[in-house]
Amino acid sequence: MKDPASIDQIDQWKSTMFLYNSALKSINTKIEILNNEFVQLYNYNPIEHIKSRLKTPASIVKKLQNDGREVTIENMVEHLNDIAGIRIICLFMSDIYPIADMIARQGDITVLHVKDYIKYPKSNGYKSYHMVVTIPVYVRDGKVDTKVEIQIRTIAMDFWASLEHKIAYKFEGNPPDYMEAELKSCADVVEVLDEKMFTLNQAIMQISRENEQGGTT
Ligand code: GTP
Ligand code: MG
Repeated sequence: MKDPASIDQIDQWKSTMFLYNSALKSINTKIEILNNEFVQLYNYNPIEHIKSRLKTPASIVKKLQNDGREVTIENMVEHLNDIAGIRIICLFMSDIYPIADMIARQGDITVLHVKDYIKYPKSNGYKSYHMVVTIPVYVRDGKVDTKVEIQIRTIAMDFWASLEHKIAYKFEGNPPDYMEAELKSCADVVEVLDEKMFTLNQAIMQISRENEQGGTT
C-alpha cells in the first residue's frame, strides 16, 4: 500500500501537470484566434503550424538533476521554464516578430524573458525566437500564473533544429567535427534560403497589390 505522503505527492503532481496542460490549451487557442483574425483581415496565414508538448516526467527529472537540484515539484515549478512548450512555425522570417508582438500584447500574458536567437544566432547556427511567458489558469481556488515556453521560427530553421537535435542526442552533445561543420554550413544555407523566400514573397505581394489597385481604378 502507498503511504499517505506519496499519495499526496501524486495528487500534487497531477494538479501541477493539469495547470501546465491547461496553460497550453489557452495559449494554443489564443494563437489560433490571432492567426484566424489575420486570415480574415488580410487573407494571409502567418502561422504554418503549431506544435505543443508537455515535458515528460523522465526529462523533468533529468533536467533538475543536470542542474544539480533536488527533484521536487517546487523546484520544477520554480526553475524549469519549458514544462509546457509551444513551437510556432511560420513560412517567412518577416512573420516572426509580428507574431511575437501579438502574443506579448495579449492583456493576460506576461513575458518573463526573451532569447532572440534570430538576431543573435548561437555559435552552432541555431536560430529561433524564444519567449517564456505566464498565462493565468483559473481554477477553483483562484488564478495560477503558469509558465509556457514559446519558440517561434521558420520551417527552414525548424528543419535545421530537428536535425541538429537528432545529432546532438545521438552523440550526447559531442558530434564529430565534420558533422558540426556540416551543420554550420547548413545553417548558412538556411539563412540564404529564408532571405530568398522572403524576397520572393515580397515581390509576389507587391504584384498582387498593384493588380488590386489596377482593378479598382
Ligand atoms: P535549456 O537549454 O532548456 O536548459 O534552457 P535555456 O535556459 O538554455 O533556454 P534556451 O532558450 O537557450 O533553450 C530553450 C530550448 O530551446 C531548449 O530546451 C531547446 O528545445 C531549444 N534549443 C536551444 N538551443 C538549441 C540548439 O542549439 N539546438 C536545438 N536543436 N534546440 C535548441
Ligand atoms: Mg539552452
